[in-house]
Amino acid sequence: MTVFPTDFLWGGAIAANQAEGAWQTDGKGPSIADVTTHGIGKSEHDKAVVSGHYYPNHEAIDFYHRYQTDLTLMAGMGFNCFRTSIAWSRIYPTGEEDTPNEAGLAYYDRLFAKMHELGMTPIVTISHYETPLALHDKYGGWTSKKLIPLYEKFCRTIFTRYGHVVPYWMTFNEMNNTHTIWYAAAAIDLADDPDERVRQTFQAEHNMYVANAKAVQLAKTLMPHAHMGIMLSLSQAAVYPATCAPANVFGAMQMQRRTWVSADVQLKGHYPAFVARILRDHHVTLDVTDDELALIAENTSEFLGFSYYRSSTYKAGMGLYGDTGGVKGAPNPYLEATDWGWQIDPLGLRWMCNLVQDRYSCPMMVVENGLGMKDTVAPDGRIHDPARSDYLIKHLQALGEAIKDGCNVIGYTWWGPIDIVSAGDGQMSKRYGFIYVDKDDTGNGTLARSKKDSFDTYQHIIETNGECL
Ligand code: BG6
Repeated sequence: MTVFPTDFLWGGAIAANQAEGAWQTDGKGPSIADVTTHGIGKSEHDKAVVSGHYYPNHEAIDFYHRYQTDLTLMAGMGFNCFRTSIAWSRIYPTGEEDTPNEAGLAYYDRLFAKMHELGMTPIVTISHYETPLALHDKYGGWTSKKLIPLYEKFCRTIFTRYGHVVPYWMTFNEMNNTHTIWYAAAAIDLADDPDERVRQTFQAEHNMYVANAKAVQLAKTLMPHAHMGIMLSLSQAAVYPATCAPANVFGAMQMQRRTWVSADVQLKGHYPAFVARILRDHHVTLDVTDDELALIAENTSEFLGFSYYRSSTYKAGMGLYGDTGGVKGAPNPYLEATDWGWQIDPLGLRWMCNLVQDRYSCPMMVVENGLGMKDTVAPDGRIHDPARSDYLIKHLQALGEAIKDGCNVIGYTWWGPIDIVSAGDGQMSKRYGFIYVDKDDTGNGTLARSKKDSFDTYQHIIETNGECL
């Protein structure tokens, strides 16, 4: 039986800031990703670029100059799609210029043309943790409504320019991470006070919901055939109760609901009832207008793109803490973990797909899934990475089961098919790629590319449209 649809989208995903480098080339302005410092353990962030500090994203893997050969390598795996983001500060260096930077626009013309030449459908994230730094400094990122018209202007520019070549769009990367990682809201200085922090993160998300609705509204006229989606971290929702104690079961549900807020608002068009209680408990009143709520109700998104890396567990009393991989909870004794402590759980992916299908009945795309691990070059010069192949196979088997369950899954893009800079740790050594990049955590290396064993694994899966799984 054929499990994966014949037009299934198979590919990989990156973010501009984690791959392109060229952080000042052709008129690009600094983004919040450009103040992420060195990659040894948890990354730190400066408030401005400091002379003498090492910023891994400044060069990253130089995808900006090497995209042609990199995409050609990926085409060798049979990709029929590729997800990337458009660096906002390449197009509007401070976010506030009246006219866009033509050199930045021309780069993405070339990039999308190359994808099409290689038979890859472009999938674009409009904002992937790379808001122009100036908008952070001046307004405090998405905690301010000032960003909404500036984002709308950015969308108008890129929809007009690329609407005919990019069919799939997602407005914000993982906005449901605002409460666990500052760059989701582009707001470094979130308050320590828990109530104020809840206000800031919910307000930031609300402002992004309005911006999402404006983008959907714009797309209706500027590119009526485009598919407009949202992108959320569903590792945030894959939370098991640590035991069957009712307080753990209920708490796990509450943790999950934190993610469904973003999905409900943007896919159903309204806030779920439980939000009022959260805000009340934290003494928070949001700045929300009736016009904004009407705009949101009238401009819902069509599909849900999501990342899924791991699951976690909830134990009563646990605080809300997480990272790029989702919520961090008590260790799950039934699961193994990666070098970075991320618990590997393919069944959790099938679970998430089914929850999305049950709650939203919308098309869904797994736009990030992958294994960040250390790789070593063997004496034969190759990288033998059976653990990565195993992770890939088991997650795709789970995805196949989800499709058999009736889930409307339209695509799968592995995170970081070529090694890139880690968002959460700033490291190169946390590698996801099927293609190795010779560069270390301090920036040394030739940047040469080479195929790992897992390259062949994914190539075979795509070639057989998943039938070999
Ligand atoms: C997702 C982000 O949260 O996780 C990516 O969208 C990120 O930008 C990915 O790279 C993996 O996280 P990390 O910290 O291992 O790079």
